[in-house]
Amino acid sequence: MSPPPPPLLLPLLLLFLISATTTEAASASPIATLPPSPSPTSSPTAPSTKTPSPASSPTPPTTKTPFPSINSTLNPKQLRALQSLDIPTAQDPCIQPSPHNATICDSSSPFRQLVSLRLSNCSSELSLSYTALKSLSTLQSLSFTNCPVTPIRFPLDLAISLHSFTCIHSLKHLTGIGLSRFVNLTDLTVSNVPVNTSGLYAVLGNMHKLRSVTISNANVTGYIPKHLLFNLTHVDFSGNRLKGKIPSSITLLENLESLNLYSNALTGAIPDNLGDLISLKNVSLGSNSLSGAIPDSISAIPDLAYVDLSSNKLNGTVPKFFAEMKKLRYLNLENNEFHGVLPFNLTFMKRLAVFKVGGNSNLCYNHTILSSKLKLGIAPCDKHGLPLSPPPAKDSSSGGDSESDSSDYNDEGGDSNSKKEGHHGPNKVVLGVAIALSSIVFLIVFLILLSKRCG
Ligand SMILES: *[C@@H]1O[C@H](CO)[C@@H](O)[C@H](O)[C@H]1NC(C)=O
Ligand SMILES: *[C@@H]1O[C@H](CO)[C@@H](O)[C@H](O)[C@H]1NC(C)=O
Ligand SMILES: *[C@@H]1O[C@H](CO)[C@@H](O)[C@H](O)[C@H]1NC(C)=O
Ligand SMILES: *[C@@H]1O[C@H](CO)[C@@H](O)[C@H](O)[C@H]1NC(C)=O
Ligand SMILES: *[C@@H]1O[C@H](CO)[C@@H](O)[C@H](O)[C@H]1NC(C)=O
Ligand SMILES: *[C@@H]1O[C@H](CO)[C@@H](O)[C@H](O)[C@H]1NC(C)=O
Ligand SMILES: *[C@@H]1O[C@H](CO)[C@@H](O)[C@H](O)[C@H]1NC(C)=O
Ligand SMILES: *[C@@H]1O[C@H](CO)[C@@H](O)[C@H](O)[C@H]1NC(C)=O
Ligand SMILES: *[C@@H]1O[C@H](CO)[C@@H](O)[C@H](O)[C@H]1NC(C)=O
Ligand SMILES: *[C@@H]1O[C@H](CO)[C@@H](O)[C@H](O)[C@H]1NC(C)=O
Ligand SMILES: *[C@@H]1O[C@H](CO)[C@@H](O)[C@H](O)[C@H]1NC(C)=O
Repeated sequence: MSPPPPPLLLPLLLLFLISATTTEAASASPIATLPPSPSPTSSPTAPSTKTPSPASSPTPPTTKTPFPSINSTLNPKQLRALQSLDIPTAQDPCIQPSPHNATICDSSSPFRQLVSLRLSNCSSELSLSYTALKSLSTLQSLSFTNCPVTPIRFPLDLAISLHSFTCIHSLKHLTGIGLSRFVNLTDLTVSNVPVNTSGLYAVLGNMHKLRSVTISNANVTGYIPKHLLFNLTHVDFSGNRLKGKIPSSITLLENLESLNLYSNALTGAIPDNLGDLISLKNVSLGSNSLSGAIPDSISAIPDLAYVDLSSNKLNGTVPKFFAEMKKLRYLNLENNEFHGVLPFNLTFMKRLAVFKVGGNSNLCYNHTILSSKLKLGIAPCDKHGLPLSPPPAKDSSSGGDSESDSSDYNDEGGDSNSKKEGHHGPNKVVLGVAIALSSIVFLIVFLILLSKRCG
């Protein structure tokens, strides 16, 4: 792992600069980033955000190209399209950063082209025109947030140009067929807008480059597709009406970092081999109707940080392996059908930001290990490991607020020492008083006896 020899450093640095700029605004059109020859207008290192100085010493031939004067302004057609979308254009929209990063342009010539457009908080009078969208077919990223405009059919050129499409509480409604035309997407986010589709596969089936997908609170019905054989890293289908089982083929998504299926109507067991998802950090399967036990394979996921299995019908015992998961910060198992003795101690619970197990009527905690002050929302165990009594009613509400939950532990942590003092405190006082009293009595008796003897 010794540093590369100096002659290697400059090309590496250059490569880094290029990749840094291309991942940002300047990724531009293929013509600009993949020049057949070093033409003055197409150097990808051109954007003035990077200082040219590091590459100015004797260097490989590529840097001999003079920096082009990017002096062109936005393509006039696109300028008109922006005006029709209420984007202020008094200032050149290609000057960075534009307000709210609404517009990002490439560096092509003679006119720069838009590569990214973000519309937010649109006026309700705004309307999309096909002509305007057609002229924006250079866009790679298009985002609508709080834009209640009437949706129209997107021109095909634009649909296949997009790498990223975001629609949050916008466009009133979408169709699966419309979305499925965005075949080059790597990122798809649709949230809080109903999507009329026969199922997720109809939307995603042709998006072979997808890396991150959110289709949440979109009223989508049907099943989770068996074939999500992409390089997905983020999957969020929360807040829909998906039914059926979680297909075990989901464990083929070996780069998956977050899986959110919260609040659907999923049934059946959690796939036994869920632990094959070794990149997983967040998993939320809460608020479904999943049954069976928590699979042991989960213990093999090294970086798991966030686990929400709440409000299902999961049973079996609570696995002890959670206590061994070093990265775990959030564990919500409440409102299930777990039984047995809770296998955790205070050390573990204090390490978590949120820990919830309430609403499992057959689960209990060992009161020699955990204090009732923790308000876990479950009963203490008897000596056979069965719940002693139903949990006090007030406890069941403690699951509601995560903040107060975690502070409960902190209070408890502080208390656990002082609590012992508290127990011993009164005893010591009583003992002290008793000793003092008895010694006074003894003294008086002694004095009386003494005085009688002497007297
Ligand atoms: C760049 O534009 C400015 C005004 O915006 C102009 O004065 C200058 O001559 C232009 N430079 C080139 C090289 O076109
Ligand atoms: C605009 O983009 C820059 C660089 O990509 C980023 O640092 C900044 O936070 C963004 N601003 C807004 C308001 O999104
Ligand atoms: C949109 O409106 C919300 C709240 O009304 C505000 O917080 C947000 O900053 C606005 N975003 C833009 C880009 O104007
Ligand atoms: C998008 O996908 C189509 C195939 O449907 C392909 O021909 C085209 O080159 C892709 N475009 C971009 C910009 O990646
Ligand atoms: C969801 O779909 C159902 C029936 O398919 C419909 O009645 C309901 O209005 C939809 N909800 C939303 C928010 O679109
Ligand atoms: C959903 O799509 C189907 C078939 O395309 C159509 O018959 C139905 O009216 C649509 N529903 C809504 C609410 O748009
Ligand atoms: C998945 O990603 C890896 C590297 O991240 C890449 O080598 C592979 O080609 C990708 N596969 C597909 C189907 O995109
Ligand atoms: C996991 O969840 C936490 C808390 O909700 C969030 O901050 C984090 O960004 C998520 N990480 C991933 C990879 O989704
Ligand atoms: C757990 O639930 C499954 C499926 O509902 C059931 O078959 C099994 O008997 C249950 N196990 C226990 C220990 O209750
Ligand atoms: C708490 O449990 C963990 C894991 O089971 C264990 O390593 C640790 O020693 C326990 N701590 C105490 C104070 O019992
Ligand atoms: C509770 O913990 C104590 C001390 O570790 C142990 O002796 C006892 O068997 C446990 N009780 C139950 C019901 O697990």
